[in-house]
Amino acid sequence: MSSNLSSLKAMANDRGQAMARPHAAGDPTLHWETLALDGGLTIDPTTKAIAPNISMSVNNMLAPGDGAFSADGVADLTALPFLYARWTNPTVRQLEQRMAALEGADDALATATGVAAIAATFLTCLKKGDHLIVSDVCYAGASELARRILPDYGISVTAVNMSRLDEVAAAFRPDTCLVHCESPCNPILRLTDLSAVAALAHRHGAMVSVDSTLATPVATRPLALGVDLVIHSLTKFINGHGDALGGVVCGRKELIEKIRSRAGVYLGATLSAQNAWLIMRGIDTLFPRMRAVSESAMRIARFLRDHPSVGSVIYPGLQIHPQHALAKRQMNAFGGILTFQTDDPQKIAIQLADRLRVVHYAFSLGHQRSIVVFLDTKEMMRSTYGLQGPQLDDYRAFAGDGVFRLSVGLESVEDIIADLDRALR
Ligand SMILES: Cc1ncc(COP(=O)(O)O)c(C=O)c1O
Repeated sequence: MSSNLSSLKAMANDRGQAMARPHAAGDPTLHWETLALDGGLTIDPTTKAIAPNISMSVNNMLAPGDGAFSADGVADLTALPFLYARWTNPTVRQLEQRMAALEGADDALATATGVAAIAATFLTCLKKGDHLIVSDVCYAGASELARRILPDYGISVTAVNMSRLDEVAAAFRPDTCLVHCESPCNPILRLTDLSAVAALAHRHGAMVSVDSTLATPVATRPLALGVDLVIHSLTKFINGHGDALGGVVCGRKELIEKIRSRAGVYLGATLSAQNAWLIMRGIDTLFPRMRAVSESAMRIARFLRDHPSVGSVIYPGLQIHPQHALAKRQMNAFGGILTFQTDDPQKIAIQLADRLRVVHYAFSLGHQRSIVVFLDTKEMMRSTYGLQGPQLDDYRAFAGDGVFRLSVGLESVEDIIADLDRALR
């Protein structure tokens, strides 16, 4: 029995060496669709499992000769690939390598949530006395963190409409270190011209981070446009199944190392191996899912544009989107999120929550099931953005008194349209 086992193990080791494959991430001839499946994936040398393993161990053994021990007592623990799971874990590492491959980045740091990736970026790139320029409309958690919390730590913050380059240019100060934007931005789907903002920021010696959650790497490649750091809530389209929270920040090696060694370690918002595995499984189908939801979203946007109960529709793929030309230039797909406005939205919100049978009335987005929710402009101003004057006018130009944000899922598009039609009338 035991000799059978050892011969099996020996066979496994032989095959391990014979079948070792280099990372697909290093092959410049491969397409993004292939990298979504294979980038950063390492075949386990013992089992030859094609799907990634889940390594749940919190710690990993130290052995003589691996850097943890030295004759002079000075150990180099940073040379060890895995030590303790809050620093890094083999399954989470595979996800990080896969995200880095997908964004064309040197490296990536995965975090427990998207907000943790944003916080890790802010807390690494900014310190007391620094200045942040942030989009006046971006994911509510990022906006509130930037505008309510960071000033308590001596960081000054200016919120600008990122689609107005003159406003962005005027906001720079000698102490500006970071510009944070989103494209398309949640919830109003206004776009940021990423290469223009990156060029401006670099001229002023500042870095740019973009939350690309709504675009995903399928639609937009921010690093190729000059952005320094790309952030995703992996909870949304990248996992795509509504069953795991996660976040990531991707960029140059030295920047990611800095974020990992500061916020990655001390923020303690480490992604679990289980969630990393689920998210990798989601990434396997990211390209076909994004293509499917983009196609359905375009059909639904056209349907809603012509619907008698709908006042206006915002979708980057529609010619009536005020930045459609930029969308065509910057996006390879227009994505799965659209917004629409109606008369008497409070009544329609109740109607949708009550009547929808295919679409779900709920918060969040980017899942396989369609989701819609109403976001009231007055409430968004009160709870989060606090915009006034021209910035409020600019918000209202996209959102009026409030928007229904629809995240298109993988159901039959005919069924989604019939469901919305029935519920809106
Ligand atoms: C654009 C964007 N960024 C970040 C987040 C935060 O993600 P998480 O819930 O994973 O922290 C969200 C959540 O809705 C989002 O829409």
